[in-house]
Amino acid sequence: MDIGIDKIGFYVPKDYIDIVELAKRRDVDPNKFTIGIGQDKQAVPLPHQDAVTMGASSADSILTDEDKKDLGMLIVGTESSVDESKSTAAFLMDLLDLPEDIRAYEIKQACYGATAGLQTAYDFVSLNPDKKVLVIATDIARYGIKTPGEVTQGAGSVAMLISQNPRVLKLNHESVYMTKNVGDFWRPTFSKTAFARGKFSNEIYVEFFQTLWAKFQKKYDATADDFSTMLFHIPYTKMGTKALRTLEGKVSDEKYAELTEHYQNSIKFSRDVGNLYTGSLYLGLLSYLVNGAKANENVLMFSYGSGAVGELFSAKIQPGFEQVIDKQALIDMLNNRQKITIDDYEKIYQIEYKNDTIVDPSTVSDKFYLSEIKENERIYKKMK
Ligand code: COA
Repeated sequence: MDIGIDKIGFYVPKDYIDIVELAKRRDVDPNKFTIGIGQDKQAVPLPHQDAVTMGASSADSILTDEDKKDLGMLIVGTESSVDESKSTAAFLMDLLDLPEDIRAYEIKQACYGATAGLQTAYDFVSLNPDKKVLVIATDIARYGIKTPGEVTQGAGSVAMLISQNPRVLKLNHESVYMTKNVGDFWRPTFSKTAFARGKFSNEIYVEFFQTLWAKFQKKYDATADDFSTMLFHIPYTKMGTKALRTLEGKVSDEKYAELTEHYQNSIKFSRDVGNLYTGSLYLGLLSYLVNGAKANENVLMFSYGSGAVGELFSAKIQPGFEQVIDKQALIDMLNNRQKITIDDYEKIYQIEYKNDTIVDPSTVSDKFYLSEIKENERIYKKMK
């Protein structure tokens, strides 16, 4: 039975900052941020937006009533959850009008969460072929103002509907994975911002990719010639470039040129959005689907979540995938955002809603929003 991604949707907050303006304000050569880090714009979430509202928006962009009837499970991958106990998935039940006879829960393992969700969904659909699984990746990447990680922030959500006979991407059931206790990136429960040993994190990421690629080749008797595209976890686009570059000189020049060209197509959206944490690999997939993917291409996908878990798996782009993806709507969503100043971004960054906050709906332009915090409970609403 073929199983994989039947639909894929995306949500990004409407405000963004320009990375060149950020560089100038921080007294950094803009080329460091645009070339050295590989980013152009960074999404800025508003205080009434969080993992719940962004997750609701990305899922709402793909779900029909028919899909909801067929759902067996909802899995949310996030490291930006709003509650230490209740899952982001539970909040989404009302907002998305989901049927109650489903399993709904959250998975956390840094940027690996959504891949854990995807693989669990694969197993679930294998056993329940008439059911679908909704997997949502939703995160706000925050390192703090004037920190080295600031240029690698971002926010957004990717939702994927997993089913049999998928119309977008078939998972090939070829996968290798590994886990190690590594201190490359962490966010203690008291902190709203992440701590990272950035350069160490790069080293571990590349090391995981090399180890897993060697394992994959051995296990499946595979070579780079079996793939026309490799998609990487891209918290900032230079990071994937570093993994890809390890293949230079080890594969033919033609293959390396092809992989590089396709990689450039896969990072277009991330350059304009920034870090989605666990959604980053899947935003790369979406970018590739919109910017040059071909039916029947075999792709290799590298998922990495600091701490650290890595997984390398293969998939096949399905014939007719273009009909399932609203390319123009995605491009419009990115183009119709508004640029805000670095001053405004810094002000928004400092706002933290506390107990007894009531959000004025006339200040909200999104369908889903945090409406109030009452008795320390977050209450969400959907615009009529
Ligand atoms: N023009 C072009 N490139 C320039 C440049 C310039 N003027 N100045 C510097 N660069 C390049 C550097 O050579 C470097 O490239 P390299 O990585 O290929 O060697 C890159 O820009 C970054 O410079 P660096 O000095 O390493 O930057 P930094 O000390 O500010 O740290 C990060 C960069 C990425 C380590 C930091 O932003 C960070 O910690 N981010 C979070 C990491 C993370 O997301 N971890 C978890 C991921 S799963």
